[in-house]
Amino acid sequence: MKTLPEFPNLFILDHPLIQHKLSHMRDKGRSTNGFRTLLREISLLMGYEITRDLPMTSERIETPLEPMDAPVLMGKKVALVAILRAGLGMTEGLIELIPSARQGHIGLYRDHDTKMPVEYLVKLPEPQGRIFIAVDPMLATGNSAVHAIDVLNRHGVPDELIRFMALVAVPEGVRTLHAKHPGVRIYTAALDRCLDGNAYILPGLGDAGDRMFGTK
Ligand code: URA
Repeated sequence: MKTLPEFPNLFILDHPLIQHKLSHMRDKGRSTNGFRTLLREISLLMGYEITRDLPMTSERIETPLEPMDAPVLMGKKVALVAILRAGLGMTEGLIELIPSARQGHIGLYRDHDTKMPVEYLVKLPEPQGRIFIAVDPMLATGNSAVHAIDVLNRHGVPDELIRFMALVAVPEGVRTLHAKHPGVRIYTAALDRCLDGNAYILPGLGDAGDRMFGTK
């Protein structure tokens, strides 16, 4: 896991398997099915790193040989929140890893004129001290990410309990999210160069939702 001095709270998951799979996803010749499968696999690998410091406790059990205090997760307090629609492809992998997680959805679209996100759906589990992992494959302008975290704050989830997981991010998006929510940890597989004039990430991988669902 890599960190950069200019981006506090950003964690780049540079595991070779994640990087290898991401390169395959970026390739424009990758099929819809291949893209979706790779996204699920990468999300699972990223989830493994993101949950590395989940709080633990111990439980008294008996092995066939003797009793022991065995380490277990403290409660089952994780919530996954997909930012629609592309976030769905990432929660698929995460739920395999944390099957007991509650799942929420935040639906946002971009207003034509203002270019700002507009909310059309919010369905969230009760906070109850849960760690919320919000997912969106592309952290581009950062506006949707900020809006989604605002929604979670309003719902009673403080920044410190939120982790934001993106597949690819750019410095603009990371700066925007950090400026508004400095306490949110951001995890990404890659920090790409910049945005183009249409707010697409360069080199990026194109429109994640379209590639995942086979739409145009
Ligand atoms: N959303 C995408 O799907 N791709 C980008 O490059 C930027 C935002």
